[in-house]
Amino acid sequence: MIGIGATAIIIIAMSVLASIMVEGWASRDVALRARLVFLAVHDQVAASVGDKSGANLVPFFDRIAEDERVLALGFCSATGKLELATSALPASLKCGNLPLGVSDTQSKLSAAGRTLRVSIFPMVAGKVSGHLLVIHDLSFIEKRVRKARLYTTLALIGAAAGFALLTFSVVLALTRGWTRSMRSFIAEFRRGGPTPCAEQGAFPVSKEISALLTELRVERKFANGIHVEWSPQTLHQLLEDEMPGAQVLIVSNREPYIHNRVDGEVQLQIPASGLVSALEPVMRACGGTWIAHGSGSADQETVDGHDRIRVPPADPTYTLRRVWLSEEEQDGYYYGFANEGLWPLCHIAFVRPNFREQDWIHYKAVNERFADTVVQEATCDDPIVLVQDYHFALLPRMIRKRLPKATIITFWHIPWPNPETFSICPWREEIMDGLLGSSILGFHTQFHCNNFLEATDRFMESRIDRENSSVSLGGHETLIRPYPISIEWPPAALAAQAPVAECRAAVRRRFGLPDDVRIAVGVERFDYTKGILDRMLAVDDLLSRQPEWRGKFVLLQVAAPTRGKLDAYSALQTEAVRLAEEINARYEGCGCKPIQLVIRHHEPHQVFELFRAADMCVVSSLHDGMNLVAKEFVAARDDNAGVLILSSFAGASRELSEALIINPYDTHGMAEGFASALRMPPEEQGNRIRLMRDQIRQRNVYRWAAQMLLDAAWLRRREGIVVAAKN
Ligand code: G6P
Repeated sequence: MIGIGATAIIIIAMSVLASIMVEGWASRDVALRARLVFLAVHDQVAASVGDKSGANLVPFFDRIAEDERVLALGFCSATGKLELATSALPASLKCGNLPLGVSDTQSKLSAAGRTLRVSIFPMVAGKVSGHLLVIHDLSFIEKRVRKARLYTTLALIGAAAGFALLTFSVVLALTRGWTRSMRSFIAEFRRGGPTPCAEQGAFPVSKEISALLTELRVERKFANGIHVEWSPQTLHQLLEDEMPGAQVLIVSNREPYIHNRVDGEVQLQIPASGLVSALEPVMRACGGTWIAHGSGSADQETVDGHDRIRVPPADPTYTLRRVWLSEEEQDGYYYGFANEGLWPLCHIAFVRPNFREQDWIHYKAVNERFADTVVQEATCDDPIVLVQDYHFALLPRMIRKRLPKATIITFWHIPWPNPETFSICPWREEIMDGLLGSSILGFHTQFHCNNFLEATDRFMESRIDRENSSVSLGGHETLIRPYPISIEWPPAALAAQAPVAECRAAVRRRFGLPDDVRIAVGVERFDYTKGILDRMLAVDDLLSRQPEWRGKFVLLQVAAPTRGKLDAYSALQTEAVRLAEEINARYEGCGCKPIQLVIRHHEPHQVFELFRAADMCVVSSLHDGMNLVAKEFVAARDDNAGVLILSSFAGASRELSEALIINPYDTHGMAEGFASALRMPPEEQGNRIRLMRDQIRQRNVYRWAAQMLLDAAWLRRREGIVVAAKN
């Protein structure tokens, strides 16, 4: 009200001021015009009045009075007699009533309801003197003043209304923003309430402030991840800071601990799997539940009534939930679709993929079973689910349907092929749709991310945001990101190792190798993607071209049997045994056999002992997502000695550029690599391996997990904001 009153007073005052100004201006205008008239008629009036022919002036005066604002002209003689007058001169106007004594003056009077202004100009013409009268009708000034008052009032009212509207809009916007943030506080508060995974009880405003502080802290500490010494502690801290109370679930086909019954005894086995060696330390740091296929012969007898077992057995920190699969399911889902279909499809090793309808049916059914298990194990509606590898391409979508608020991070541990190759898969759209149920889909390299995006572009009706590297399908967005996997640092298997000299001595003793024999090791599963035959051929090439190494060089090839039911694997094993015998036979009599093939599983500490005993490690994969053997070899060499021979087709070659990079298809080139390694001075070995150790220490597996969890935390924050805004 006060505002309206003040505005009204301002408007009135302004309109009065405007009318005064207009009136003043119009009066000055009239005075000026009167003077102009006087000047215009002066000479003629003087002449005519002077020669007594004044009567002739009347028509002249009438013409001047035609000006719409000049009402009349007249001439009063010095004696006060009206000598001349135009017809419109009001009769009430008498010379005697006018202030004729004052020179060049004006007088206001009313006549017939009109306001008139009489401008009086004294004149002397010869002997005659008198006053010229110019009479103006001032009603036009009144009209102007009224108009000025009206327009000023209207303009001020308009301006006031505009200003009020603007003010109202600003206030409205501010109020809405405030309401929204209050809603978001309330939503946040509600989220913190009933959901058991989330932090409880904090007042929303303080939560907001603490979130901001956390953000700043995280941005400072974890900006690029590279400046942080990543360890189980920092990873654990990150989880606590960024996603307090969040439940972590991992799903993989291979379990981290297998219980087998051997000779009536239950034996524990840690499987040969890059996936397991990477994720097990992460789970030890984060806690939570790992859901996997219980594949050991004593697995069923070691779990509780809920198929759970706390691991690691010596010092439990997380839960392993085992899922049981029938023989038929394993044949279809694991051996069939995963390992005879997707595995050769994604690796360029020139082994034909086989896709069978029956395998696909089992694959879908087993994925569904794991989705059900995830729901059973989830203690809240928004757990963080880490889905691992090509065994579970359909699982992300299935979990998304059951737990829409879950944060699903899927990591594809093997390469992703180009779209032509991928198009071979008869269920390619279903596979991609399944994966795009993830919140984040990770690959080892940017190259594999690009292949995935291209396949999406080719086969899916989706929106690709290349700048943000994400895919939106059915209103859900999936980030596509490279996360190069790594190993724990320092590696647990290194802890109990004897000094390098002792390891060398022990290995030499075990394999009957004299002191002057140089040792190359190869350690992997017996898989056709690893280039085992190719490296044997390279040994043959070296010995045939450089005979000085005969009897002085041995390849210790340790290969864990794997997927033995499949023809491609059994054939490889048979061929490897045959080839080793053939090459060994060729150099018989030169001392020790150049190829020693050990086909059995080795535990991590045994593998590390081999690494420490070796002069070089050969990783000659024909195609590999990352290959952690390469990183483990470097990590095992705390003596800063030894040479890594690394295939350019392994993802690890992107990071470990100080290795001797070889093409496994170029037999002679690989043999030359062996020769260079054998001749490499210790100083150069030290320089190379030190750089690689630094790299692996900094970019260890905790950093790998941390990068994904940081992205997940960001997504969860973003989704929280979106949900709050919708409410
Ligand atoms: C690769 C795969 C893993 C798998 C491992 C061992 O590293 O990416 O998912 O666990 O091979 O293979 P296996 O079939 O024995 O689990």
